[in-house]
Amino acid sequence: MSIDKPISKTSFALTTPLYYVNGLPHIGSAYTTMIADAIARWYRLSGHEVMFVTGTDEHGQKIQRTAEEKGVNPQEHCDRISQQFQDLWHKLDIKFDRFSRTTASNHQAIVNEFFARVQKSDDIYLAQQQGWYCVACEEFKEKRELTEDGFCPIHTNQKVEWRDEENYFFRLSRYQQQLEELYTKNPDFIQPESRRNEVINFVKQGLQDFSISRVNVSWGFPIPDDPKHTIYVWFDALLGYISALLDENDPPTLENALKKWYPFNLHLIGKDILRFHAVYWPAMLMSAQLPLPKQVFGHGFLTKDGKKMGKSLGNTLDPFSLVEKYGSDAVRYYFLKEIELGEDGDFNEIRFVNTLNADLANDLGNLLNRSLGMLKKYCKGVLPPITQTDISEENEVKQIGKSLEKKVIEAYQNYRFSSLCQEVLNLIRSCNKFIDESQPWSLYKQGEQKEVEKILYVVLESVRFAGFSLAPIIPNISNKIYTQLGFNFDFNQKDLGLKSNISNEHGQWGILPINQELPKAEPIFARLEVPENK
Ligand code: MSP
Repeated sequence: MSIDKPISKTSFALTTPLYYVNGLPHIGSAYTTMIADAIARWYRLSGHEVMFVTGTDEHGQKIQRTAEEKGVNPQEHCDRISQQFQDLWHKLDIKFDRFSRTTASNHQAIVNEFFARVQKSDDIYLAQQQGWYCVACEEFKEKRELTEDGFCPIHTNQKVEWRDEENYFFRLSRYQQQLEELYTKNPDFIQPESRRNEVINFVKQGLQDFSISRVNVSWGFPIPDDPKHTIYVWFDALLGYISALLDENDPPTLENALKKWYPFNLHLIGKDILRFHAVYWPAMLMSAQLPLPKQVFGHGFLTKDGKKMGKSLGNTLDPFSLVEKYGSDAVRYYFLKEIELGEDGDFNEIRFVNTLNADLANDLGNLLNRSLGMLKKYCKGVLPPITQTDISEENEVKQIGKSLEKKVIEAYQNYRFSSLCQEVLNLIRSCNKFIDESQPWSLYKQGEQKEVEKILYVVLESVRFAGFSLAPIIPNISNKIYTQLGFNFDFNQKDLGLKSNISNEHGQWGILPINQELPKAEPIFARLEVPENK
């Protein structure tokens, strides 16, 4: 098996975490997935082949206990919850390529083969494990990490449990130097910068081997040759990324799984599981002599009253009702725009409604409506015979539009969605100002038809460019904008970029075709009601 395959410049493979099925998906799980979807959509739009993996993590003590408490068979429980994740992703217009389930039949073969490779490197041994375990994190905690009364710092309603049992261990300590080299030679491997420093400091303190089996958990894969142990849920789950890459009819071997998409360009995760992805996972891959992912990006938390929202704490916001009430574009836009990726962010429904009304209904929606109304009145509803060369280089909106071309690409490449939205809004606001100042209605009365047409060109082209630039975030609104401007594109179509090479042309300001006939004007985003007493 070749392990030195160079990473492709025309394809992009990314993952979200595989979510625990101990409860229904919440807005925190949706947050990571919406971001990953926007990234996947951007790469597809710019002509890349994309592999976007998400899924569910279904083994381990936490799931076993949840099923026991509910009095259901664990597999039935997993099937039910995993389906809810998929349903939510559909409601949120998440266009994943693979949905990985760690209870899928082909996954066990991958785990066993990988385990054997690590064993062959002499990195697995049996020893006594003693320590405090947080079932909600599925992780041993150091005494110094716990709260004063012995609770997990993330799951402050969960007491950690003492464990003293024989486990198989992974020789993580052996990879200390190689990991340090990895971080030094690849400054982008862990992002953002603050997270990178956290990991480097953690590793500097000295790495300890960690246990990769359990004797008191039956809900997991048995250790080959010693079935009274099951494989630790994290060791199993991380490999779910690789199993996801098997094509439907592939025999489940590592060679088959790794042939096309591997290694991953990006693991997008929350900061709570950084250590697993940036320390344990690369070390496991080094041991198995497989290539490493290119980047691990640890984003911040959605919080409620300052605490991480989560299934275990039970302080979550129901994403199903949020989407039902406000629609998927609204939810996607709010979370991507209001929280710069990497930062924590609190949710507040009034702020949510106000942001959407201000940006999408007022600034963007009204601008389109207003200019389509003028187009109907002054140009018979047909795009004017103007091209961008007719617009002076001095025109401020044109300048902002032109300078946005590069900024959009850079923003997507660096996952700076909030800045991207701000920049696009800046273009939109400059258009509103331009109309107010240039007063096309007066120019029309004075018979300055060409000048009126130029103004409408500048404004409508800017709305188009805004729609294109935001399509990975608000695909349905972008579709409506494009339809209103007489185009026939569907931004929800996965192969749009590959088929049409759309980003080369539409990713530039100044391409609005002449004489295109437009349909009847419809609002693209209806104003939302401000909720009471929130
Ligand atoms: N099953 C593991 C991941 C295994 S990956 C091989 C797991 N699952 S989880 O469901 O508990 O959390 C998964 C991810 O959900 C977090 O890392 C994070 O990306 C996201 N979030 C969960 N709660 C969140 C918030 N309150 N805010 C933002 N993201 C959150 O860990």
